[in-house]
Amino acid sequence: MKKKVLLSAVAAGAMVLSLAACSSGGSGSGGDGGGDGGLIGVAMPTKSSERWIADGNAVKSQLEDKGFKVDLQYAEDDIPTQVSQIENMITKGAEALIVASIDGTTLTSVLQDAADADIPVIAYDRLIRDTENVNYYASFDNFKVGQQQATSLLNGLGLTDLEGAPVDGAPAGPFNIELFAGSLDDNNAFFFFDGAMDVLKPLIEDGTLVVKSGQTDIEQVATLRWDGETAQSRMEDILTSTYSDGSKVNAVLSPYDGISRGIISALEGAGYSTGAEWPVISGQDAELDSVKAINGGEQYATIFKDTRKLASVAVDMATALLNGDEPQVNNTKDYDNGVKVVDSFLLDSEIVIKDNIKPVLIDSDYWTEEEVNG
Ligand code: BGC
Repeated sequence: MKKKVLLSAVAAGAMVLSLAACSSGGSGSGGDGGGDGGLIGVAMPTKSSERWIADGNAVKSQLEDKGFKVDLQYAEDDIPTQVSQIENMITKGAEALIVASIDGTTLTSVLQDAADADIPVIAYDRLIRDTENVNYYASFDNFKVGQQQATSLLNGLGLTDLEGAPVDGAPAGPFNIELFAGSLDDNNAFFFFDGAMDVLKPLIEDGTLVVKSGQTDIEQVATLRWDGETAQSRMEDILTSTYSDGSKVNAVLSPYDGISRGIISALEGAGYSTGAEWPVISGQDAELDSVKAINGGEQYATIFKDTRKLASVAVDMATALLNGDEPQVNNTKDYDNGVKVVDSFLLDSEIVIKDNIKPVLIDSDYWTEEEVNG
């Protein structure tokens, strides 16, 4: 009897050990998951936006947990700086590169150097274009992000629920809306805008929504480098040129929280005050200042993309490649980079409005209660 108990205790202990070995090996992509102490280069675009800081930290710590060394660099949105940072990583003997590009079209030559040195490359969040030397792409379903941004506006106007289903007794409108897009050198900007227009276009066509400035082409509404001040001055121009007749803008499609904050400043400068006349404004990234602005009623919604999960996909891809395994993908058709379709793993995103800040952002430990309310 005693012996039996002892044996099963040993067996249980062995099981715990082997489970621990499995979990330290990471999930998903297979292989033993362990790093060999080799160096991985991680190139991020800028520290001027919180999300990239969170991404960089998450990728670095997850790689280090697997035993890799990490060279993490930020390029402050300067293209030559990013190119030379990547060049340096290659020189230092990086075994793989994880790259969130500034301009997706400017890395062709440095990635040829990476390929010549047999270094695999993972495009992180933003597709790297015009090169065959990108092995995999880790991102979110970016078209859906755009659809969610538009849907959040319709929800804020009282037209639909958060799934986009029409609600009974919805107001008839028409509502004035203005459109903003991201940076044209970022492939994602097109996916977000196309996704948003997929939802908004029918309502623009039937007259429920009116783009009073008439600016509806992505080239007209884009924001170079996703810069908040650039967006602020475009919004100021629109308010002066189109709304000085006393009419009000009721909704603003914004693709990123930093752009939303620029739009909010322009509205405040033009004398709008929060409350009944304040427009519904979308966003993206769940940046802390914008989550606070959602709490305060200046921004209506953001889109939450969990950077911890994206980091884990990219880290699993790199680990699998270095172990000679095939990374896990779930999309092999949508991300054509101009030279080839890049196999991708796309994560899901969520709409966040005031009512679900707690379950989505606080309960998942993305932000603490103190950070949001403090
Ligand atoms: C990212 C967004 C981000 C934007 C600006 C895009 O490529 O997907 O999450 O808001 O860049 O940094």
